[in-house]
Amino acid sequence: MYPVPVAGVRELLVTSGSTMAAAEVARQMSEGARNLSLSGHVGFDSMPDQLVNKSVCQGFCFNILCVGETGLGKSTLMDTLFNTRFEGDPAAHNQPGVHIKSNNYELQESNVRLKLSIVNSVGFGDQINKEESYKSIVEFIDAQFEAYLQEELKIKRTLHNYHDSRIHVCLYFIAPTGHSLKSLDLVTMKKLDSKVNIIPIIAKADSISKNELQKFKIKIMSELVSNGVQIYQFPTDDETVAEINGTMNAHLPFAVVGSTEEIKIGNKMMKARQYPWGTVQVENENHCDFVKLREMLIRVNMEDLREQTHARHYELYRRCKLEEMGFKDTDPDNKPFSLQETYEAKRNEFLGELQKKEEEMRQMFVMRVKEKESELKEAEKELHDKFDRLKKLHQDEKKKLEDKKKSLDDEINAFKQRKTAAELLQSQAQQSGSQQTLKRDKERKNFF
Ligand code: GTP
Ligand code: MG
Repeated sequence: MYPVPVAGVRELLVTSGSTMAAAEVARQMSEGARNLSLSGHVGFDSMPDQLVNKSVCQGFCFNILCVGETGLGKSTLMDTLFNTRFEGDPAAHNQPGVHIKSNNYELQESNVRLKLSIVNSVGFGDQINKEESYKSIVEFIDAQFEAYLQEELKIKRTLHNYHDSRIHVCLYFIAPTGHSLKSLDLVTMKKLDSKVNIIPIIAKADSISKNELQKFKIKIMSELVSNGVQIYQFPTDDETVAEINGTMNAHLPFAVVGSTEEIKIGNKMMKARQYPWGTVQVENENHCDFVKLREMLIRVNMEDLREQTHARHYELYRRCKLEEMGFKDTDPDNKPFSLQETYEAKRNEFLGELQKKEEEMRQMFVMRVKEKESELKEAEKELHDKFDRLKKLHQDEKKKLEDKKKSLDDEINAFKQRKTAAELLQSQAQQSGSQQTLKRDKERKNFF
């Protein structure tokens, strides 16, 4: 039997040629679809298997961010959770600020491959001034969203084999003070809650008594609620896990103990911490919530954490970022806005701004030139005045010198005249003297 064309669909296809948007057509098509029964096996019931095979082939990726003060047992808990020893050098704790360290690992369980990233906030809580401690963590989370968004916006996208580094869960380690949350914890969780799924855990829960632990858990939850911190809630909409998730939500924050040390208890080797007064078994639910955490984080809700990251946190980041870039879904009259129109509008706005800036710069340039011109004219006038002043000074000086020269020339001439007269007198005197000598010589000769 062949499926009969659905009347509603045919009608819609006719209208789709005109102005109807493709999404609207698709919606109406699905609304107008009729249920038909098959008279034999077709094969599309294998779709879930196909999906599973494809996913197994591709492998999965999961990124965990561990935030908590130094030495709260973050690395030990990761080793305990994944039943392995993640190599990694101990970080220095004398840094001026918090820095983020990310390590990637490939794990395999049965035939399922997991690309696991463990991101640590090194030096968190080590500083005297802790005001900015959350910043590098927020920046790191945003940077991973930004990288994904950039990949999405590319013309040639390779999202199918893109290494997704977005953080799927933040395990927030609370110190087992038995008192209350520190302001650093509240501020950090508040800054992170719209960006990542937060699961709060009480670290080193073996150092707090049973009664105190219950009170501490209640105190923490009430402080989170009163400060409006949104932590991750295990989903209860899927009925297969609704019951267990609902129960576990009431156990938050999980009080955990970590250890990679295996101790023989009875005839079994178990992960435990040994003390002079007894042994804390990590996987014993009467001792701590480690098993609850592992079940919730890995076995039951890993996929939901990945989904929430994409559908809630990344979506929020993407929306804010695109709005910041000027993209909108609707215009001011609430009419749908296409990406093309938004782009054109943004481009025109940008070109308008560019022209305005160009005009402003041109006017500024003309003004500057005018200012410079008048400054130069002023300087030229000053130079001319100075030149005139100097010229006059020079002329006066010259005239004075000429007068002096003239009077000196006159003096020289007078002197010369006097000198000539004196020489004349002197020669006349000499002449008369020699004539008298001759006369006396003659008289003497005549005498003898
Ligand atoms: P940094 O990376 O230096 O910030 O430390 P960390 O938070 O990774 O702590 P790490 O796992 O290195 O553990 C620090 C110390 O705490 C080690 O001596 C662990 O053996 C101990 N430790 C870890 N988990 C627990 C726990 O659950 N209870 C107790 N009592 N000690 C623990
Ligand atoms: Mg560590």
